[in-house]
Amino acid sequence: MSSDEVPHQGVLRPAPESFLSGELISAISRDGIDHHRRGLLRGAFGAAVAAMAGSAVASDPDIVTPPEWSRTLGKPVATNPYGLPSLYEQNIIRRQSPGLTQTDQASVAFTPLQSMFGMITPSGLHFERHHQGWVDIDPRRHRLMINGLVDTPVVFTMEELMRMPSVSRMHFLECGANTALEWGNSAVPTVQYTHGMLSGSEWTGVPLSLLLERAGYDRRAQFLLAEGADGSSMTRTINMENALDDAIVAYGQNGEMLRPEQGYPLRLVVPGVQGVSWVKWLRRLEVGDMPYAAKDEASHYVDLMPDGSQRQYTAIQEAKSVITAPSAGQKLQTKGYYCITGLAWSGRGTVTKVEVSVDGGRNWREARLEGPVLPKMLTRFNFDWVWQGDAALLQSRVHDSTGYIQPQRAELVAVRGTRSIYHNNAIQTWRIAPSGEVDNVQLG
Ligand code: MTE
Repeated sequence: MSSDEVPHQGVLRPAPESFLSGELISAISRDGIDHHRRGLLRGAFGAAVAAMAGSAVASDPDIVTPPEWSRTLGKPVATNPYGLPSLYEQNIIRRQSPGLTQTDQASVAFTPLQSMFGMITPSGLHFERHHQGWVDIDPRRHRLMINGLVDTPVVFTMEELMRMPSVSRMHFLECGANTALEWGNSAVPTVQYTHGMLSGSEWTGVPLSLLLERAGYDRRAQFLLAEGADGSSMTRTINMENALDDAIVAYGQNGEMLRPEQGYPLRLVVPGVQGVSWVKWLRRLEVGDMPYAAKDEASHYVDLMPDGSQRQYTAIQEAKSVITAPSAGQKLQTKGYYCITGLAWSGRGTVTKVEVSVDGGRNWREARLEGPVLPKMLTRFNFDWVWQGDAALLQSRVHDSTGYIQPQRAELVAVRGTRSIYHNNAIQTWRIAPSGEVDNVQLG
């Protein structure tokens, strides 16, 4: 990475006093547990906070003299008819990993997880993964066809779809190839590149089950083929179980129409299932009685096992978590209090617990889950930590509602080997050096 690419929060500085006290207290009271705050202010954290408070306020020129923005007229309303982030946030962008792919069309741009708050990814920062570039389709010319083992093949216009009963649900979308490079090495420099094929959105659309009912699907059918309208001929087999459970034919994302990069005007949302099955620019669903062995499931998105066999049709994204800050590429500037923060999710249900270790997995303590905790959605976790200036190895591990616990890398490698590309849900380790620099390491 060149220096102009250093992500926001690349340097974790102690906040000025006024910001710090508000931020700290609201962060603690948000979970509604008073003893946290009392404990925090009385104990080691209290000392850490006290050490940070009172710094440089009297000499701060923006406090001594009101800055220009307090003395002038602001810009008129609707200067930006569609709102844009602050000028000072221009570094918070999706990034492509140089050299990762041969063309920019069959490529990926990663979400800047190190700079995200909460559980929703702004639509403009949702990661992008295209097999043959993205297209901006005229919705008036777009159709969805349902055919195959149905009473009557049907073709819907967008207008017809948008008049049907709709649902809005929050779900994560993770590419099966997320964290792929970690199978082999730990050279990946930031969490944006290790885990940034991950985003969380509110999706709006028609339940797929309703559309299948409307077409009169054969009750013995076990599979669907979903097909996209882009030049990649993206086709994926979807299990009928997933299709009828909670899948959505979606046109909305975070309260507005889908972004073109996310499949405007229509995409499939298959909660908990790997991203490749969330077919974008969705134009056809065929009801069938056997898996289709399409190109993107016969040779791609398969797991190469240690004995040389290929595991096909892996669907569900297993439980996974990652600390997003502090994370590789960042630097702790001073000793003292830090809120270790991160994301946890499970394709099989809800996150029930997240633990954090600061000594490479020898000791674990429970993190706070910031609600709401929703099925098959990102869950934000926070963990209070006072850094004494020593070397540390930060890890997080998630437990989900099935009782599954995220594995250490060595445990996963013992079963899966290291020649896979897909479905790496191992515990991630960030090393903090006494200098405060954070980098990516693999243990064991
Ligand atoms: N659908 C179509 N039609 N074409 C594509 O290239 N990419 C797939 C899936 N759906 C793809 C597609 C892959 S591999 C992933 S991970 C997700 O879309 C990525 O969705 P996003 O770009 O909205 O993040």
